[in-house]
This record gives sequence, C-alpha cells and structure tokens, in this order.
Amino acid sequence: MLSRSLFTTSIKRSAAARVASTRYASTKTLKETLQEVIPAKQEQLKKLKAEHSQAVIGDVKVENIIGGMRGLKAMLWESSVLDPSEGIRFHGLSIPDCQEKLTPAPGGKEIIAESMLWLLMTGQVPTTEQTRQLSKELAEKGELPAFVEQLLDSLPKTLHPMTQLGIGVAALNHDSAFQAAYEKGIKKSEYWTYAFDDCINLLARLPALAARIYRNVYKPGTELPKIDKELDLVGNYTRMLGFGDNQNMTEYLRLYIALHGDHEGGNASAHTAHLVGSTLADPYIAYSAALYALAGPLHGLANQEVLRWQQAMQKELGENVSHEQIKEYLWKTLKSGQVVPGYGHGVLRNPDPRFLALQQFCESRPELMESSTIQLVKKTSEVAPGVLMEHGKTKNPYPNVDATSGCVLYHYGLTEYKYYTVIFGVSRALGCITQLTWARALGLPLERPKSVSMGALEQLVKSSWPNVA
Ligand SMILES: CC(C)(COP(=O)(O)OP(=O)(O)OC[C@H]1O[C@@H](n2cnc3c(N)ncnc32)[C@H](O)[C@@H]1OP(=O)(O)O)[C@@H](O)C(=O)NCCC(=O)NCCS
Repeated sequence: MLSRSLFTTSIKRSAAARVASTRYASTKTLKETLQEVIPAKQEQLKKLKAEHSQAVIGDVKVENIIGGMRGLKAMLWESSVLDPSEGIRFHGLSIPDCQEKLTPAPGGKEIIAESMLWLLMTGQVPTTEQTRQLSKELAEKGELPAFVEQLLDSLPKTLHPMTQLGIGVAALNHDSAFQAAYEKGIKKSEYWTYAFDDCINLLARLPALAARIYRNVYKPGTELPKIDKELDLVGNYTRMLGFGDNQNMTEYLRLYIALHGDHEGGNASAHTAHLVGSTLADPYIAYSAALYALAGPLHGLANQEVLRWQQAMQKELGENVSHEQIKEYLWKTLKSGQVVPGYGHGVLRNPDPRFLALQQFCESRPELMESSTIQLVKKTSEVAPGVLMEHGKTKNPYPNVDATSGCVLYHYGLTEYKYYTVIFGVSRALGCITQLTWARALGLPLERPKSVSMGALEQLVKSSWPNVA
C-alpha cells in the first residue's frame, strides 16, 4: 500500500500530468488557460475577505425572506451578470458582442457551445484554434459507458425525458475523478483540477446521453450514429438526434444552447448546482440535482408549456388569428388562474435579449417566417405585454426566451415537446460546470443560509422597529 506522503506525491504528479495531457498542438488547452487565470481570482477573493469581510452591502427585508429571496445579493457567480433592464452579459459581453466575437462552427455563423464555455470559464474570447481543440477534446470524450446505455435503455419510455436525463447524469458519477481523488485524500487546492475533469467529461457525454433518451422514447429501433470527431458538440448532438442533415436546425440548436448556457447564479438550476456542489458532491451529482430544478414549469419546463399553450390557442382559434382573438385568449388563460407561459421573469424587467436573438434568427430564415406557429409567437408577443400590464400582477409583462424557443424546434420537426427541457439541460451545463470548477478553485464553503420561523420574524421586526404595532 502507498504511504500517505508517497500517495500525495503521486496524486500531485498525476494532477500536473492531467493538466498537460489534453494538449493537442501548441495551442493552450482550456485547462492550461484556466490554471493561468485562477491565481489572480484567488488573490482577489483573499483580498476581499481580508479587507472587506464586514462591509455592509445591503439590507435584508421581510419581503426577501417570504418572497423567494428575490433581489437578495447572497452568492458569488463570476461568469455572468444579469441586469434587470439590459439582460445578460457574459464576463461583460452582451449577446450581440458574443455573436460578433465568438467563433462559430466551420461553415456556420452562430455561436457554439465550446466558444461560450471558454469565455465563461476563463473570461477570455478563445481563438479559433482553441475552440476547435476543445471541440475535438469533447468529441473524443463523448462516448457513454456501456452500463449507462443499458440503464437508459431499461427505463420506461413513459418516464419524463428530464427524469431520465437526471438519472443518466447521476449515474456518470461512477467514473468521477473528483470523488475518487477525494476518497483517497487530496489537498483542497487540488480539488478544482479533478472537478474540472469531471465537468468536461460530463459536458462531453451529455449529447450522447440526451440523444439516446430521445431515440429510446420517440424513435425506438432507429440507429444512433457514433460521435463524429470532426464535429462540434452541438453539431454532434443534432446529428445524434437525427436532424444532422438540416443545417438550419443545427445552427438554431447551436445558438439556443450557447445563449441558454448561463444566466447568472440565482436561477433555480444554477443555484441548485452550486448548493449541491458546495457539499463537495461530485459535479455529476450536483448537475443531476440542477436538472431536477430545471424540470419545474416555472423554470425550464416553461418551453414545453409555451408550445402546449400556443397549440391549444391555434386549435381553438384556427389559422390567421387576429390580435383581438389572441387578446381574448390571453384573458381566458389569466382568468382561469394560469400563468401565460413564456412571459415574465424573476429578474428581467424588459424583453429578454435571448428572446430577441432567437426572433432575429427566425426573421433571417424565410421558412420560419412562413410558419403559422412562429407567426403566432410573434403576434402574441405584440399583444401579451399590454394584456399582462392591464392584468397588473407580473412585474415583467415581456416575453422571455421560452416564448419562442420550443416553437422553432417544432417547426424543424422536433415535435415532441416533452423533450424540450432536455435540450435546455444540455445547454445549462455550460454555466453550471463553470461554477462547479470555480467554486472549487476559489475554495468556496458549504452553502448554509439561516432560516427563520414566522414567529422569529415577528420578533425580529419588533426589535428592529419597536414602534411597529
Ligand atoms: C418566470 C416567473 C416564474 C417569475 O416569477 P416571479 O418572480 O414571481 O414574477 P413576479 O414577481 O412578476 O410575479 C408577481 C405575480 O405575477 C404573476 N405572474 C408573473 N408572470 C406571469 C405570467 N406570465 N402570467 C400570469 N401571471 C404572471 C405571478 O404568478 C405572481 O402572482 P401572485 O402574486 O398571485 O403569486 C413568472 O413570470 C412566470 O410564472 N412566468 C411564466 C412561466 C415562464 O415563462 N417561465 C420561464 C422563465 S425564463
């Protein structure tokens, strides 16, 4: 048996080797680039802790506690910031900035997952070589272990695809480098390197996992193509789903997956990944938990709900629907006590720039502009804000990204809307694995906020505001 010190030395050596081993040419790998940027961030955090730990940056109001913690600044998340009026920025870059600067796939125009991941992880815009190298690395690591394939194949076809995805992702932790290294005993400063390896393996395997679920549930008996080592992550995913011949669909999925990748840290899926990761559960377990947060209708499931709602409207009202008819349908939905899916947001107070980017995509494709479903989405977005304002409840009456995302998939032939959140699940991994890597690199602690009872809250109010009755 190895002595503890011998073992630690061998882990150290293998950690160094692991950083270098994924290099393909003279281009620095994502891991090598990360290794260079981590020390400055660690230093920044150290300084914040040493100099400003006790600085007060806001108040906690009763409304924060009973209102789902809205607006409470309570977690660190480096990769993106969501401004209520202007929307998301990834390390300072807006969506149009990213569309201009990030490398597309060969022959494509839209942002790809690899270049977005590089930006999220490092804060740097990758070169084309770096992006291609990452695509290659992901393609090489993308095969599923045989037991996971068997596990997925054994699940009932009636089990919701999101439940299946969570099961598959959790099962991948069988090969977790982080868990194995932790069990053997590694230093905290080395956590990130193993967590990063798991994160990359997880992302690499998501397309095969998600596509297998699609084939099992909706196209049983059809042949799932092998990973093409020359394709980017989403190019492979689209191909494995069976839509590889449709360049428009491939480009749409590239854009959709890159744009949905990260939306700062407080949303339910991102926050869940961070919370579970903070227990030092490995990235597979942490992301599996996040997927189940994504599976709720107020979060990721909204894209399937939008399509269901739009189709019900179309069925009831027929073709060539007028704005007045849509208005009436919207009121009917609201009066029956339901939310209008695809509208509103926990943070945003303007139209979602991701919605605008997807609308722009639609407007650049004549076949989409001719689609009655897409036309209905557009018309609805012209009427719904006025109705929701008059209704007077929602703080944001504008469309969010889900108002259109599923309808485009439907048009291109991916009509099984219960599957749509799975695609979101492939995408949201980009932000969550970035955080899971950085949380370990920065040594962030176990998350553990304080809860209070209503009685305790009343007492706290009385002691802070003695004159309140
Ligand atoms: C996204 C969402 C969950 C945000 O919730 P939130 O932060 O609580 O939003 P608000 O503070 O604006 O909600 C205030 C009220 O307006 C209602 N509201 C918000 N969006 C609404 C919508 N699209 N349709 C009808 N009512 C809505 C809320 O249900 C809430 O009502 P309540 O006081 O009776 O509970 C909410 O807007 C929603 O349910 N939207 C539809 C689902 C959706 O598209 N989700 C995807 C988000 S990317």
